[in-house]
Amino acid sequence: MKKIVIAIDGHSSCGKSTMAKELAKQIGYTYIDSGAMYRAVTLFCLQKGFFVNDSLNLETLKREIVNISITFVNNPLTGKADTYLNGQNVEKEIRSMAVAEKVSPVAAVGFVREALVRQQQALGAEKGIVMDGRDIGTVVFPNAELKIFVTASPEIRAQRRLAELTAKGEPATFEAVLHNLTERDRIDSTRKDGPLKQAVDAIVLDNSNLTIAEQNRQLLAVFNETSQC
Ligand code: DC
Repeated sequence: MKKIVIAIDGHSSCGKSTMAKELAKQIGYTYIDSGAMYRAVTLFCLQKGFFVNDSLNLETLKREIVNISITFVNNPLTGKADTYLNGQNVEKEIRSMAVAEKVSPVAAVGFVREALVRQQQALGAEKGIVMDGRDIGTVVFPNAELKIFVTASPEIRAQRRLAELTAKGEPATFEAVLHNLTERDRIDSTRKDGPLKQAVDAIVLDNSNLTIAEQNRQLLAVFNETSQC
């Protein structure tokens, strides 16, 4: 069967990566988490001290961006791909609140987006890929054969994210998580380059009242319909 590109965009913490990963596994496609790439650049900025009094030193980042290498390596223990920043496994660090709090301003920088979009397009050149993010169906792969726009209510998303952080032993409050994700949505939707928006030809999936199994079933059904066309 002909391989296609599947673009999954949507709001923060609405389960995009869970559904994208599961779909990729079921259909034998490669899964790429584009958000992990923005998170890795943000971690690099934090590690190198590019944030001074909350403001990002753009000149230094522009000079240093060529020294950032982001790769995905399969982890045999989890069966999932871990994110590596310059050869170091940073899968855990990039999911911290410290990174979540700084990632939107980094992802709004035009030259950061240009560099990462280029890498994402190269990763999908052979098709047979499921990529999730904010601008995958609009900027990275505007000709993707299947585009999904995922959303859920902010309160439900905050509850899910809080449960994830708590399970990892990272302390957080519901209010802080809700504030972080609504603020990220605001910055992501209003930035000039690659804003979060629904592609006109995307299928909307609101999973507020769906279980993970239900959402996965719906997504697989949509894929089966599309790939038969
Ligand atoms: O999907 P995520 O929450 O891990 O993404 C982290 C941040 O990266 C998110 O706040 C927005 C940004 N992002 C983006 O701007 N474009 C993408 N394609 C993916 C993520």
